[in-house]
Amino acid sequence: MVNVVNPQDGRTTRSRDASPAAGETSENGRANLPAARRDSTFLDACRRRPVAHTPVWFMRQAGRSLPEYREARGTVPMLEACAIPDLIVEITMQPVRRYAVDAAIFFSDIVVPLKAIGVDLDIKPGVGPVIADPIRDAAGVDRLRLLDPSDVPYVTEAVGALTGELGDLPLIGFAGGPFTLASYLIEGGPSKNHERTKAMMYGEPELWARLLDRLADIAIAYLKVQVEAGARAIQLFDSWVGGIAPADYRTSVLPHSSKIFSALEAYDVPRIHFGVGTGELLGLMGEAGADVVGVDWRVPLDDAVHRVEAGKALQGNLDPALLLAPWEITADRARQVLDQGRTAEGHVFNLGHGVLPNTDPGMLARLADLVHEESTGR
Ligand code: CP3
Repeated sequence: MVNVVNPQDGRTTRSRDASPAAGETSENGRANLPAARRDSTFLDACRRRPVAHTPVWFMRQAGRSLPEYREARGTVPMLEACAIPDLIVEITMQPVRRYAVDAAIFFSDIVVPLKAIGVDLDIKPGVGPVIADPIRDAAGVDRLRLLDPSDVPYVTEAVGALTGELGDLPLIGFAGGPFTLASYLIEGGPSKNHERTKAMMYGEPELWARLLDRLADIAIAYLKVQVEAGARAIQLFDSWVGGIAPADYRTSVLPHSSKIFSALEAYDVPRIHFGVGTGELLGLMGEAGADVVGVDWRVPLDDAVHRVEAGKALQGNLDPALLLAPWEITADRARQVLDQGRTAEGHVFNLGHGVLPNTDPGMLARLADLVHEESTGR
């Protein structure tokens, strides 16, 4: 995979055909090193090393805002699509072809491992994950069995194929965080206030701990499958954990997230941790063992720096809704994010949450280019 600059508009796109085959020597004379040793601004920024430009990728870059995504999916239901390796590879590659992003994210969903262990669930368009038989007691928790790699052969196959297609570009594997998955399982679907979830957390702490411990083990197994198949970074999406207070996070969630990050430590892949509305939890999310703390759009990165202990990189945090504003406004705000990001030990540019479905892909293309241009040599 090489970057090709279009002489007409100066935009960078990627071309696949120039990647040398394994064992060959690339154009610049560098041997085709094993994946873990190749250059990547994304991996370097995660590791707080110097970079030639600020790397960028977009949460939910693969998906509904792309016409070619809708075409590839056709009428295949979301969870079926997540089990078809060729489709996973195609959809993961789509944003990489369009945008000069510095990483790809595996096309899947946080509920895929739950489906794989037999939880009766579906992803309803416009709604999200819906669980047929919500978990409300010990018997429900005990029905969640551990995940075995043989439960997700399509993940192993798709990640393997993708690492070949992507060449030097790293693939990010991911899993759902324990609070967020527990919320879907307990509520039975998306929830605004996470009422039953918090009622269990406060009222039945032992049952809660058992559920979260089981979800942590499932996440560990699922992330290991992805890393062993070739993913070069992982992100734990605890999207809805911003709904609880720091003291509760510390006692009721952090031990389980910590268990996940510790279990991945030996693989030496950067571990990113993200949640929405987690301004008050950023320090604790770092403490849980992330190398990179994801920040939503509510907290400026130069403020987030002081909330997170030393030795962490930051990821974020342009409000995704800014992509619906006129380009000059988006561009100004993106420059601000870059400036604020310079105060961090390492900065991976991203949105403050996922790409909104109505986003014009052309705006994302311009944003990726702007991040590179404005950060080069600074
Ligand atoms: O980042 C990427 O592009 C990779 C793919 C990805 C998806 N879901 C694909 C998807 C990732 C990383 C996720 C993670 C995910 N899934 C999260 C964490 C990230 C976040 O947004 O906070 C959460 C909370 C979920 C649960 C979920 N799945 C929701 C809330 C929805 C949206 C429901 C809707 O239709 O509005 C989904 C469905 C989903 N996951 C879609 C995609 C492309 C849409 C399905 C479709 O196209 O029909």
